[in-house]
Amino acid sequence: MDQYATFVARMQSSPTTHSASNPLDTHLLAQIEDALQAFVAQVDLPANLRAACLHALLAGGKRLRPILVLECARAAGGHVKDALAAAVAIECVHAFSLVHDDLPALDNDALRRGNPTCHIAFGEALAILAGDCLLALAPVAASRSTHNSGQIQSTLMSATVRMISGQVYDTLQDFPAGLEPRDQLELVHHNKTGALLEASCCMGALAANAPSATVEALTIFGRTAGLMFQIVDDLIDATQTAEHAGKATGKDAAAGKLTYPAVHGIEASRHEIARLRSEALEAIAPLETAASPLRDLLEFLANRTK
Ligand code: IPE
Ligand code: IPE
Ligand code: MG
Ligand code: MG
Ligand code: MG
Repeated sequence: MDQYATFVARMQSSPTTHSASNPLDTHLLAQIEDALQAFVAQVDLPANLRAACLHALLAGGKRLRPILVLECARAAGGHVKDALAAAVAIECVHAFSLVHDDLPALDNDALRRGNPTCHIAFGEALAILAGDCLLALAPVAASRSTHNSGQIQSTLMSATVRMISGQVYDTLQDFPAGLEPRDQLELVHHNKTGALLEASCCMGALAANAPSATVEALTIFGRTAGLMFQIVDDLIDATQTAEHAGKATGKDAAAGKLTYPAVHGIEASRHEIARLRSEALEAIAPLETAASPLRDLLEFLANRTK
């Protein structure tokens, strides 16, 4: 059983550590899959574009961003049904980001989630257009939110601009003058990856119509967990096999990417993961037991190997 399956199984077998209405279970993941499928099914698309979008969206992601949306909504006292639109929206942006990240002009990768990348399966033209399409669909999905729909859309699209800016720094490395490598690294990671995780948590709180202090606490949690998440991704690239990770590894160093292990070393990266994990936990301390599933999710994110 892989680490994520183990995590889900643990959530199911220990409902007493959370309130009965608050376990992260396969039912939650199934709701995300159903909502994604239902959303794409009602959009009118050419058959080849639909196939490329579905390949990008449905082929085996961990669904961490939509889970964060739903769990933050629940931690804020809201309902899953009110947060599903935001969950679908953020996964559309994430899938777009991966399709374009894998393109020959960016990371030039052939393997994603253990499958051929979108441009390998469908050709570069259709992959670029499928990415465009998923990006355009995201605010359509977000606009169906029950509460705070406008704020959810603007949070999502602002985070998307930050993600794209992070990808520009990651890919072209032309930083503002005078930035030290460690600050360049933080700029890349906070934006290319942190922005969408931060937005996931903020959108979940907004979907729950939470008070501003709760939105702020969950946003800080997402920002901190987001930076931690990319450091773990860097470690995966540096230490895991492609077979295990389901995507190419050992490429960051070869491509001269600015990563935590490259700038600070492997041990310091592990320490930074532990430090950020504690900082993220602090942010949600005021939410007490309502945030228990988020704490388990954070632990999974800190220890994942794929
Ligand atoms: C991969 O994200 C891209 C990064 C931001 C590091 P995930 O590790 O969440 O990818 P999937 O969706 O589970 O494949
Ligand atoms: C990608 O970072 C971040 C995105 C915005 C997609 P990486 O290039 O490190 O992600 P992987 O390792 O290909 O999943
Ligand atoms: Mg990349
Ligand atoms: Mg990549
Ligand atoms: Mg990576």
